[in-house]
Amino acid sequence: MPIANVRELFVHELCELYDAERRFLQGQVEMVHRATDNDLQRSIRNHIVQTRQHIGNLEQFFRELGQEPRRETNEVAQGLVSEARGGIQEAQSDALRDCVINAAVIKVEHFEIGSYRGLITGARLMMGQSVVVDDLLETNLQQEEETAQIAEQSAEELFQEAMRAERPEGEGLLDKLNKAKNRLMGQ
Ligand SMILES: [Fe+2]
Ligand SMILES: [Fe+2]
Repeated sequence: MPIANVRELFVHELCELYDAERRFLQGQVEMVHRATDNDLQRSIRNHIVQTRQHIGNLEQFFRELGQEPRRETNEVAQGLVSEARGGIQEAQSDALRDCVINAAVIKVEHFEIGSYRGLITGARLMMGQSVVVDDLLETNLQQEEETAQIAEQSAEELFQEAMRAERPEGEGLLDKLNKAKNRLMGQ
């Protein structure tokens, strides 16, 4: 669709973000059943609820602009979801799959953060200090930021869990025996 002015550019960005949110909702609903780590699963469940609110907030924002909500294909979102689906299929263990899912969450949330920041800058210029922007767009942005932070904080632990799962059986026991031997020998 041709973009002839700033308002059309803004609406175009909004339509693409709306499409992205719909795709991410679908992706999370699919992914949550594949996650085995309890915290990861809980955090995705929580963000599914938030994502439904994001969609509702964007629909309300469309109406504030006097437009019907409309999707324009967001190819980045499409790619992120299909990358995540591929990784989930390829991962050969639960722990590796959890790492793939968590990494997908980090990428998706950062993409959303960038998209909302851009949209908010445009909205502030066009609408000034608007309560509508605060309540709808800023709320969404804040929840994306919180979700990104949670996923980033979990990444190390999930990697460690995957590394632990890879250790051959009995290696832990050998470590313990060596430590006990060293203690006996006063080292
Ligand atoms: Fe979102
Ligand atoms: Fe999100």
